[in-house]
Amino acid sequence: MRVVGQSAAQLFREVQMLVYESVNSQSDVMREKARHLIPGGSHTYAKGDDQYPEQAPGFLVRGEGSHVWDVDGKEYIEYGMGLRAVTLGHAFGPVIEAVAAQLPLGTNFTRPAPIEIECAEELLDLLPGAEMVKFCKDGSMAVDGAIKLARAFTGRDMIAICGDHPFFSTNDWFIGKTDMPGGIPGWVCQQTVKFRYNDIASLEALFDRHPRQIAGVVMEAARTEEPRTGFLENVKACAHRNGAVFILDEMITGFRWHLRGAQYVYGVTADLSTFGKALANGFSVSALTGRREIMRLGGWDHDRERVFLLSTTHGAETHGLAAAIATMKFYKQHPVVEGLYARGERLRRGLQRVTAELKLEPHFNLMSRDCNLIFGTRDSEGKPSQAFRTLFMQELVIRGVIAPSFVVSYSHTEVDIDRTIEAASEALAVYRKGLEDGAEKYLKGQSVKPVFRRFA
Ligand SMILES: Cc1ncc(COP(=O)(O)O)c(C=O)c1O
Repeated sequence: MRVVGQSAAQLFREVQMLVYESVNSQSDVMREKARHLIPGGSHTYAKGDDQYPEQAPGFLVRGEGSHVWDVDGKEYIEYGMGLRAVTLGHAFGPVIEAVAAQLPLGTNFTRPAPIEIECAEELLDLLPGAEMVKFCKDGSMAVDGAIKLARAFTGRDMIAICGDHPFFSTNDWFIGKTDMPGGIPGWVCQQTVKFRYNDIASLEALFDRHPRQIAGVVMEAARTEEPRTGFLENVKACAHRNGAVFILDEMITGFRWHLRGAQYVYGVTADLSTFGKALANGFSVSALTGRREIMRLGGWDHDRERVFLLSTTHGAETHGLAAAIATMKFYKQHPVVEGLYARGERLRRGLQRVTAELKLEPHFNLMSRDCNLIFGTRDSEGKPSQAFRTLFMQELVIRGVIAPSFVVSYSHTEVDIDRTIEAASEALAVYRKGLEDGAEKYLKGQSVKPVFRRFA
């Protein structure tokens, strides 16, 4: 009986894989159209065709909880969730109900709406040390606002960023320091300098090299590596000793490390902090928060030169703020962050078991906290490998899982997680064969490429 049951399950699996591997007819037509109409074929590089194996769905039309459906009607378990913005799950009831209630009241007026105060109170109530807030639409805008305030507050131009943290802004001051600096004047790039995470001496060296020139120090509190004891406090002290503003980018850590942010977890408070992504469960809301003394430069109740701080037509759209309020209320009333850790832990344990069974340890590894799991892929020589990343994602996709990372949402169920572990164990078995025979033998299309690269 058992053998019969197993082979039926296996047959089902093989048929399912054939379906997932079959021609993505609608997707393929749309891909061509998109590349003709949109540079790169998508409005966000991280979602582009060059970031996914060719079998991946080209376009997703619908999401519900942790599942998504593509234009060809195939269903997938999704990870990453809108570049980590959708923490609660797609089309999450309490959030879309709040948005739907706001829409008929109007979304944008000639004067502020009361919801702007309500949302400000809801956020500031959560964050230690944050006295004022300005809302905007994208994380990049919030970080740009922090940079501008730091420059105005100190009267300096240079910015020190943590070079081990991959992304802070779409603006020139940051992109100019990546491997894709096209269109950015050299003098702009020279204003940004880099230090190493968990290496206070590298930051001190920057201040020694550029005395009284650095306006602000920008970093995430943590990413794949946890801060060594005293590191964050030392960064803050070093910034202050040298007259600079300490800025923490909580775009990822905010509402994920802890409801009150990574600053609460590590017991350090930044002068300015930025939030986005998980703030409004996928709606476009980001926030710059911080000390009144600095934030108020964006207002007019002071004698200093004013700063044009984050003032845009759509900055305070009411339905976005309604989504943010509903999201924060849900976080406060339910164990969301605990749920993210628990789901991630179940996934990590399962994946670690499979990795150990296949003896893949040095070649495939998991990083970061359970609430934010990402994976690293290395070739047979132990070098970081885009080909093996592609192979792993390809084998997951044809088993119904889209996973640029293993970042979970509150909507991922234990069934989702267990199905993912099962799919990953088969995908990693192919990975193991790839290590022996070469990834190319098993790749069914082109390899993915890093977003930041100078040429195609
Ligand atoms: C740490 C961090 N900061 C800032 C940003 C920029 O946010 P956005 O893409 O919303 O502009 C990102 C985006 O991925 C990020 O990960």
